Amino acid sequence: MAAHTARACGIDFGTSNSTVGWLRPEQPALLTLEDGKITLPSVVFFNYEEDHSVFGRMALQEYIDGYEGRLMRSLKSLLGSSLIDSQTEVQGRALPFRQLLTLFIKELKLRAESAAGRAFDEVVLGRPVYFVDDNPQADKLAEDTLAEIARQVGFKDISFQLEPIAAAFDYEAGIEREELVLIVDIGGGTSDFTLIRLSPERRSVAERRDDILATGGVHIGGTDFDRQLSLHGVMPLFGFKSRLRNNAEMPSSQYFNLATWHTINFAYTRKAWMDLQDVHRDASEPAVLDRLFRLIQQRAGHWLAMEVEAAKIALSNQDQHTLRLDQIEPGLQCALGREEFNQSIDGMLRQIGKTVDQLLTDAQVRAEQIDTVFFTGGSSGVPALRDSVSALLPQARHVEGNLFGSIGNGLAIEAFKRYGAA
Ligand SMILES: Nc1ncnc2c1ncn2[C@@H]1O[C@H](COP(=O)(O)OP(=O)(O)OP(=O)(O)O)[C@@H](O)[C@H]1O
Ligand SMILES: [Mg+2]
Repeated sequence: MAAHTARACGIDFGTSNSTVGWLRPEQPALLTLEDGKITLPSVVFFNYEEDHSVFGRMALQEYIDGYEGRLMRSLKSLLGSSLIDSQTEVQGRALPFRQLLTLFIKELKLRAESAAGRAFDEVVLGRPVYFVDDNPQADKLAEDTLAEIARQVGFKDISFQLEPIAAAFDYEAGIEREELVLIVDIGGGTSDFTLIRLSPERRSVAERRDDILATGGVHIGGTDFDRQLSLHGVMPLFGFKSRLRNNAEMPSSQYFNLATWHTINFAYTRKAWMDLQDVHRDASEPAVLDRLFRLIQQRAGHWLAMEVEAAKIALSNQDQHTLRLDQIEPGLQCALGREEFNQSIDGMLRQIGKTVDQLLTDAQVRAEQIDTVFFTGGSSGVPALRDSVSALLPQARHVEGNLFGSIGNGLAIEAFKRYGAA
């Protein structure tokens, strides 16, 4: 617990969930943002019937309740994507994606301020090691865009800290001797790694650059696992990989759109619909395509993606999970197994493993030298992922942090260090 009240807050704007941390005495750092919970899901729903926009769990609820409207998820994925300069249609009006992000960050600030009972002018924003892989210019642009949005919603002083370093500060708050730690943060959109020297004595040091031996990251996260599970286990029921009468493969773009959170709405365009009508004539299994048509007509893409995500989370604790798809076709079910899920993400786990190997090489550190692997981020819940990272560092101690709160906690510590007491 902190001895002082901090002047600034820290914001962990995540692909799936966001948190705001603020250090103050006698209280946990993470502010409650919705229904007494420390996370606000990074989701906006434009409810056309009620003519309002809602955020977080309430957005998901109104969407599930069947209100007509538009659901926007994975907002952070827009940063660093070429979509950021384009717009989307909401209730017949053009909404620039930038403005969509601004709406969400503004809401986050308002809720944090209402929970804190004061305004914040200074903020430390978390950022992934890479917003964009292998493209420093695009990466810089993504950070600049986020800074500009933070300024627009009223922050006057804005600085950044890498998300995994923030997670490291959270772990460091509780250790008793020096350790060499690999921080593994697997969230919704990115996997980030930091090799860092932590110790009780170093906590008070302001500049920690020398303690960071290496950072690495790759643009893979839980939403990619959702996509893989959907493409491997669910989309084939809707005709993905089926054949046309001339033996050509069914065009795949709408399946990819439906399996990817931030492109689901693209499957609802008039053009997509016309294209699918065209292929329907050539389909060898038209009944399967009829399911796809119902899915699109019902605008049920987000519902299905949520079911797939829930199945993925269930498979972290059990071997089997069955999706019930009666809404699409009475009696339609889809059995998913953990083994099948593991296979579908195998290539991604290998990429994650390579990133860890590369990081050790960059740092010129042998696996045996690492004392602890600290896991955070919701996707650290996937057993195959923890196992594959742990297998690379068999001698290290494995610690599971607060999967959803470590970064916000660490950013709160950093905000106090940088901006001082109120
Ligand atoms: N028990 C679980 N098993 C597997 N995955 C889980 C579990 N719980 C949550 N997830 C996944 O974790 C992801 C969200 O994690 P988190 O909230 O850490 O991400 P984020 O911080 O929003 O994303 P990022 O840091 O990449 O921007 C989602 O993809 C969610 O499906
Ligand atoms: Mg995160």
